[in-house]
This record gives sequence, structure tokens and C-alpha cells, in this order.
Amino acid sequence: MGSGEAWVVMRTGRAPSNIAVIKYWGKRDEKLILPVNSSISVTLNPDDLSATTTIAASPAFVADRLWLNGKEVSMESQRYKNCLREIRERANDVVDEQTGVHIKREDWLKLKLHIVSENNFPTAAGLASSAAGFACLVYTLAQLMGVNERYQGELSAIARLGSGSACRSLDGGFVKWDMGQKEDGADSIAVQIANETHWKDLVIFIAVVSSRQKEVSSTSGMQETVQTSPFLHFRAKDVVPKRIKEMEDAVARHDFSSFARITCADSNQFHATCLDTSPPIFYLNDTSKRLIGLVERWNTQEGSPQAAYTFDAGPNAVLFTTESNSSLLLQRLLFQFPPAPGVVLSSYVVGDLKTLELAGIK
Ligand code: PMV
Repeated sequence: MGSGEAWVVMRTGRAPSNIAVIKYWGKRDEKLILPVNSSISVTLNPDDLSATTTIAASPAFVADRLWLNGKEVSMESQRYKNCLREIRERANDVVDEQTGVHIKREDWLKLKLHIVSENNFPTAAGLASSAAGFACLVYTLAQLMGVNERYQGELSAIARLGSGSACRSLDGGFVKWDMGQKEDGADSIAVQIANETHWKDLVIFIAVVSSRQKEVSSTSGMQETVQTSPFLHFRAKDVVPKRIKEMEDAVARHDFSSFARITCADSNQFHATCLDTSPPIFYLNDTSKRLIGLVERWNTQEGSPQAAYTFDAGPNAVLFTTESNSSLLLQRLLFQFPPAPGVVLSSYVVGDLKTLELAGIK
């Protein structure tokens, strides 16, 4: 690599978002992003919810720069720096197929990058945009810099340094983020517990209730909850460990009743810890609460769970049901929320990646 030469090498990657059914909320180590409890998520269909990132490297670039959804953002945040540093340290010699340029392992430490990332869904509206974004950044960087296969298991821990939930977006299907015990976070990694074809008749609906940015970011919300909510500490110690086991079991057995019961209970408990924060944090709005009511009424009428809901740090709902019940759920949704222009409700079957889009929820 000669610094006077004008060349650019680039790579593009795509990573899906994920939605937790056992929530991560609260860090025990802010710098390393180590959680107070383990969590489990479902990886969403990248056609519906994903980030696409292109990274270019050139000796002509004078600084690392980043554009998110068309706007340049500062790379001063330690989160970006940490992810870049960790991947650069694992970089390899690369001969770029398109340009024939040979980049040596040590060159990656000096080469500056231009990074362009786009989400195909609302950013920071509680649909895990940072999860898809950081997973995509780490994955694409690793591809560009020829990171060795043997480091693949470490990519989730590196994505975690960007955004905790990002560590769960490097695999499809159902993923568990083990909180780990080590102080350096080496064992705080995500592992797939079932792949994307495991539960074929589980249907997921995303109800975009609002695409506005959330008022309290998950980072500051979590800090406040950890500092002020006694309930969070009870949850982390006495509730979540048992729920993680029950959820793993429900997924393994395709047991929709248990899956739905635990998913709703955990979403509600997470939002209860937000309410227990001082000052309280409210992520749900009236439409979210109507969606909860719709699912709860249906489940009570039938005497067993037909559907489940979960909400991250925002008002948008992720609803789960079985394929045989999906048209009934849709009917109920459309009855309560008649179609309105400009708002999207999408659904798909895990594994099948079938997508349908409807105008729908306000
Ligand atoms: O990774 P963060 O900082 O975006 O936090 C995510 C927190 C929740 O989405 C609310 C829960 C979760 O486990 O994804």
C-alpha cells in the first residue's frame, strides 16, 4: 500500500434488527456494556428491519467519518472508537478482488474509513435500530479487514461495545445474550439457541405506532433505572434467571402458550421498572396500551394465549402469534385500527421471511 496511490476498497453488509422477549435493561459496567441480567431475542427479517452499511478505505481519506441515514454524525463517541479499535486489532492481510490492491495487516491501523449506514425503518423509535446498526458496522468491518474465522465468536462481544442489544443481531432465529461473570466481559456474548427455521409457524407483526425519536434514550434511561429503581435489582436477581430457562424451554418445545405468557410478562415488567425509575420513564403511549388491551382481551376470551406483545424503549409493538391465528389477529387489529395512510403494519413468518405490508395502525 502506498499512501500516494488513489484507490478505494469497499464492502457492503446488511444486519437485521432483533426484538428481545426477555429484556436487557441496566448495565453493571457502563464502559464495557455488561448487563445486569441475561436476555433472549428473536432476530427479525432483514427485508423488513435492517441496517445496510458500506465502508470504504482509502489512503486519500484523512479521518474516519460516518453518515447515518444521509446525515454526517460525529465518530467521537467511544462506542464507535471501541468497535473500530477491536476490529483493526484483528485485521489481516487482504488482497482486494476488485482493485487488486494488497493491504497489509498493519496498514489497517493507519487507513481511514468512510462509513455510510442506512436503516430501512425508523431510527431510535424503539425498534432496536442501534442493534442493527452496530451489528452491521462490526460485521462489515470484519469482512473488509479480512478478520479471521477464528475471531467470529468474538464479533458479538465487539458489537456489544457499540450497543448492548447489537450483540444479539449477528445470528438469526432465537439468540441468548449471556450476561457473563468475568470482569473483562469476555464471557458476555450472544449465542444462537434456535435457528431461523426452528419455529416456522411463529408469526411476527410489527405495529409502527409512531416513528418519532424516543424522548429518553435507552442509555440514559437504563442509567436512571439502575440508580433509582429497587425493583430493577429484584428483577435482575430473582426473576430473570428463572425466566431465561423457561423461555429457552418454551422455544425448544415450540410451546406458544408459555412463550406468549413469558414475553408479555417480561415486557410489562421492563416497563414497570421504567415507571419505578425516579423520575419515571414512560415509553408506551395510548395506542400501545390499546394494543396490549386487544391482545389481553383475546387471550382471556379464549382461555389461553392466542397472541403476545412486547415493547422496547418506545411505543411500537411487536406482536407474536401462530400462523393459524395470524388472520384472526390481523382482523382484530384492523377492526380496532382502521387503515390510515402512511403507517405500516408488516408481518412475516420466522424462517420463511414472508412479508406483507398493510396500511394500518395510527
Ligand atoms: O442496546 P440498547 O442500548 O439499544 O438497549 C436496548 C434495550 C431494549 O431494547 C429496551 C431491550 C433489549 O433487550 O433489546
